[in-house]
Amino acid sequence: MAPPPSPLAFIPFVSVENMMRLVHHFGIETVLHELTDAIEADYLRWSLFEKAPRLASHSQEGVIELMPTSDGEAYAFKYVNGHPSNTAKGLQTVAAFGLLARVDTGYPLLLTEMTLLTALRTAATSAMVARRLAPKDARVMAMIGNGAQAEFQAIAMKAIVGIEEVRLYDIDPEATRKAARNLQGCGIRVVSCDTSQDAIEGAQIITTCTADKAYATILSDNMVGSGIHINAIGGDCPGKTELHRDILDRAATFVEFEPQTRIEGEIQQMDPAYPVTEFWKVLSGEAEGRTDVRQITLFDSVGFAIEDFSALRYLVGKLEGTQFFQQLDIIADPDDPRDLFGMLQRAA
Ligand SMILES: NC(=O)c1ccc[n+]([C@@H]2O[C@H](COP(=O)([O-])OP(=O)(O)OC[C@H]3O[C@@H](n4cnc5c(N)ncnc54)[C@H](O)[C@@H]3O)[C@@H](O)[C@H]2O)c1
Repeated sequence: MAPPPSPLAFIPFVSVENMMRLVHHFGIETVLHELTDAIEADYLRWSLFEKAPRLASHSQEGVIELMPTSDGEAYAFKYVNGHPSNTAKGLQTVAAFGLLARVDTGYPLLLTEMTLLTALRTAATSAMVARRLAPKDARVMAMIGNGAQAEFQAIAMKAIVGIEEVRLYDIDPEATRKAARNLQGCGIRVVSCDTSQDAIEGAQIITTCTADKAYATILSDNMVGSGIHINAIGGDCPGKTELHRDILDRAATFVEFEPQTRIEGEIQQMDPAYPVTEFWKVLSGEAEGRTDVRQITLFDSVGFAIEDFSALRYLVGKLEGTQFFQQLDIIADPDDPRDLFGMLQRAA
């Protein structure tokens, strides 16, 4: 019989079940608040991070992406897909898992599901940006696209930005019914709408979160009045956008990491000289955020590796003293580090 694995072989693993238990244990609003602050703290350390556009493997149906980054002490990567046609097959559009490791030894520190964690970190990132760029009195948000991410976005905007009403629209009324049902009792007034025009009525924030592998026009120019903050998160791949380019001509546009957003974001429609501001500069005071109440601000979100790094490090901290993980023996750890083969042989 094989000897038991050494203690060094074990890495904490957070399953989907444990992630759900953890979020309920601490409360989703607390988790979103803390995640927002964790991401903001890392955005303020921007220059320390290794940064590159994510590695994307495109197919006709979708994309599979690897998102690595490191701050010199910890290294993280996320595996994530984006397949808009998946829901018709009973599968999720976006599914993910990720890993955090020590830089000094290269040994992993954490392996975790990241489908839920991505929805949480995307909502936290949207809220982090909106609390700086949205009009100060923003109380109403239109939520166009009522799929997997939608409720997370609404709750984060309520908890962190103070949104009191969310106006839902989706081309599939069943998705809107689902989101409205799920948001009952969350402390947000929910209005289900039959058209996107109806959904944006009276909204100071418009979140677009649709999934279609196309240059879609979820918002046309005439739909966006002055003073609006647009949180555009669905267009995140070459050939996949949500906004008519005329909106971009009128907006002040903020991005995560410019070289990646030029490839994947709404701004892929624009001339390479189209001006954008990396959002970390607003946080650090190097660039201005909203400068005028009448300005249209656009967060052209595609999702960047540092947000996942922050989420993974936050999760490691939250696991301390809890039972919300299992130990998996991921690392082969022979007594003599060079005797890997001997370890295999002795297990016969
Ligand atoms: N920016 C980021 O960091 C980030 C993170 C996660 C997901 N995303 C992207 O957000 C999008 C939504 O993700 P999801 O997991 O909620 O997907 P989902 O498939 O669960 O939901 C998408 C919803 O959009 C609706 N929709 C499609 N076309 C529409 C249209 N023209 N008008 C209104 N509604 C429309 C669909 O009916 C569906 O309900 C995806 O494109 C995904 O890649 C971005």
